[in-house]
Amino acid sequence: EEDLPTTIFVFGASGDLAKKKTFPALFHLFQHKLLPKRTRIIGYARSNLSREDFFERVKSHLGADAGSDDIAAFLGLCLYVRGRYDVPDDYVALRKVAEGQESALGAEGASRRVRVYYMALPPSVFVDVATQIRHTVYDDACTNRIVIEKPFGHDLESSRQLSKDISALFAENEVFRIDHYLGKEMVKNIPTLRFANVFYEAVWNRNYIANVQITFKEPFGTEGRGGYFDEFGIIRDVVQNHLLQVLSIVAMNQPRSLGAEDVRDRKTEVLRSILPIQLEDTLLGQYVASADGSKPGYKDDDTVPKDSTTATFAQCVLHIDNDRWCGVPWVIKAGKALDEAKMLIRIQFRDMPNALFPSLARNELVIQVSPKESVYIKTIVKEPGLSTNLAMSELDLTYKTRYQGVNIPDAYATLILDVLNGDHSNFVRSDELDEAWRIFTPLLHQIEAEKTAPLPYAYGSRGPEGADEFARKRAGYKRTGL
Ligand code: BG6
Repeated sequence: EEDLPTTIFVFGASGDLAKKKTFPALFHLFQHKLLPKRTRIIGYARSNLSREDFFERVKSHLGADAGSDDIAAFLGLCLYVRGRYDVPDDYVALRKVAEGQESALGAEGASRRVRVYYMALPPSVFVDVATQIRHTVYDDACTNRIVIEKPFGHDLESSRQLSKDISALFAENEVFRIDHYLGKEMVKNIPTLRFANVFYEAVWNRNYIANVQITFKEPFGTEGRGGYFDEFGIIRDVVQNHLLQVLSIVAMNQPRSLGAEDVRDRKTEVLRSILPIQLEDTLLGQYVASADGSKPGYKDDDTVPKDSTTATFAQCVLHIDNDRWCGVPWVIKAGKALDEAKMLIRIQFRDMPNALFPSLARNELVIQVSPKESVYIKTIVKEPGLSTNLAMSELDLTYKTRYQGVNIPDAYATLILDVLNGDHSNFVRSDELDEAWRIFTPLLHQIEAEKTAPLPYAYGSRGPEGADEFARKRAGYKRTGL
């Protein structure tokens, strides 16, 4: 796309998301010369920050290896405007600042300019700010794009309400709903792996795949975020969005093109084929203090009610009722305060139908999203040497060794670049969001109405006792890794 003069507004500029993700991502793009040549970044928030205070905040997360010249040049593009979220006059002032900058860039009156409104804001002020933007800052002479982040409501109904409110203000092609998992290198790699190589697609179905596991594990609890987390729980925090998005990419049929609507049509079709998840197919957990007492339990956090039944661990088994996947269980597991940091997709293949060799273990294709980007296939080989025994080995594509020195960008950097290019492929469409909520809403409502007690598990453990057994029973997967 041609280099149009661009103003990026960051609402909530003094907050955590902006500081930790939005500005570092913008800086990364700047360093790699990927921001349009004529760009201004305007931070907007309520805090009374001087220019220097604001710059200090922005700088604090730019990374140790950032050169000071680069930082100075980047900050030269940034401004801070203090304003309230519900006062129209403050937005008028903001617009004037933007117009002043645009005319300095030689963009005044130019019919084609871009304005990006990045909402790094809590959901409570979301619609108010979007309304003010639309009425005061939005400009018909520009290409306007609004970027929003979860939580997109807390169930189907509230999400629909939010979509309705947003769609009264912005056209769907102006809205970019971020799910940052869609910006992760290994997630973006899935369609390439599947549709650029002849042999994956050949076995990518119920005839060859026994089950699929999608696992998200974090080794830390909700420390400091207990207040937010307790209202949401692990299903709303990562399962309904991040894990379901990954699932839909692993499961989708080949899109007609790589265009955003074709891709999102295919993903949405997958979600439409999933029945709402039942409580009996779900196992919930909540962490307690670590065995040695050094790590606190979830409810030891002062911001969490003492009688909270919010799940910090969830495992569910779901099915996709279509030709490709009928009968294949998908095991989705997510938990906080577990024994390790890991996000992966494990595709377990069926046993060999003949008995020429003893059955040692099943083949598996593993896509590790983090922390170690890799794709590997668990493969049986003859034990090397004089032995004729079988051994389990791996065809291993570990990015760190294969692509030494390649810097894998943070998900936010690639997603903001997509926004600048107007590419929606890696953003969630409103019907897709709707389907994702449809799958989880009855379960969430039931859990809340019945105050379903989660099973305790120790901070730093593998999760609630019985979780493995639960999945094995329902999904019939066999443990490998001999
Ligand atoms: C966020 C969740 O969306 O994703 C957090 O709110 C979670 O609870 C985070 O820790 C995980 O993202 P990443 O990129 O660190 O895997």
